[in-house]
Amino acid sequence: MTETLLTTSDHQDDLAALGPWFHNLHLPDGRQTAPQHPLGDFPRFKWDQIAPHLPADLSGWTALDIGCNAGFYTFELARRGALVTGIDHDPHFLRQARWAAERFGLGDRVRLRRMQVYDLARVEESYDLVLFMGVFYHLRYPLLALDLVVRRLCRLLVFQTLTMPGEEVFEPAADSPIHDREAMLEPGWPKMAFIEHRLASDPTNWWAPNHAGVEAMLRSAGVTVVERPGHEIYVCRPVEVPSPDRVWMEEELLAATGRGGRGADPSAESSARILK
Ligand SMILES: C[S@@+](CC[C@H](N)C(=O)[O-])C[C@H]1O[C@@H](n2cnc3c(N)ncnc32)[C@H](O)[C@@H]1O
Repeated sequence: MTETLLTTSDHQDDLAALGPWFHNLHLPDGRQTAPQHPLGDFPRFKWDQIAPHLPADLSGWTALDIGCNAGFYTFELARRGALVTGIDHDPHFLRQARWAAERFGLGDRVRLRRMQVYDLARVEESYDLVLFMGVFYHLRYPLLALDLVVRRLCRLLVFQTLTMPGEEVFEPAADSPIHDREAMLEPGWPKMAFIEHRLASDPTNWWAPNHAGVEAMLRSAGVTVVERPGHEIYVCRPVEVPSPDRVWMEEELLAATGRGGRGADPSAESSARILK
């Protein structure tokens, strides 16, 4: 059935059949996809915090929306002129996003792909803007994912995660003796709580870093936080000069993503090639 043959009630049926919805999209016909969302008008209220921190005109920018869900952020970036790739591992959400992209008439600026974040290990393309929101804490291997994400980043990263309570930041010494671990008990020591059982009845909530932990992991992955538009939201820029430890990390990353040889030389060309 073509778009022109769809009546309002057909659209209504589509909307219900495509549910349940996590993103509350405001459709051109005035209806909303999740008007009863327990978090409110989600994620519009989060976008309202982030939007002023991104260029109003994204013409000529490429963007990657990781865990795009029904595409709320993908569509907002496309409306600002970016060519956006939305990826998600869940076909249920991608069906919603494809349907909504048509309703919004954004099909020419939006590409939607079924992908795991870890599949970025096999992607050559880089993106001016990357949104990595609401996904990190759902991953069993979050730091692996973050390292992969930063390698695909050119200009701006918007990172959001569930966190542990607390805003403290403790500055660890540059190095400490092996038995000197008391400082790790400081509230502001970078740390991440592991959730073995359920949080909010969701079996995919695995990790909750504290604020210091988020900043430390972002730094360690090669970006620096430039803005904090809201609670648990971090706008970051890539750091130009990689740390000297990076070559060693590249070797591990290659092995973890099935691209490294056993005992390969960390200074070998294959490792150095993906260093930024
Ligand atoms: C909590 S929702 C966040 C959606 C959106 N990014 C936001 O911030 O509103 C998590 C999304 O990430 C997707 N997701 C979870 N694990 C993923 C993975 N390993 N690779 C790609 N997408 C993933 C889920 O399917 C879901 O759409």
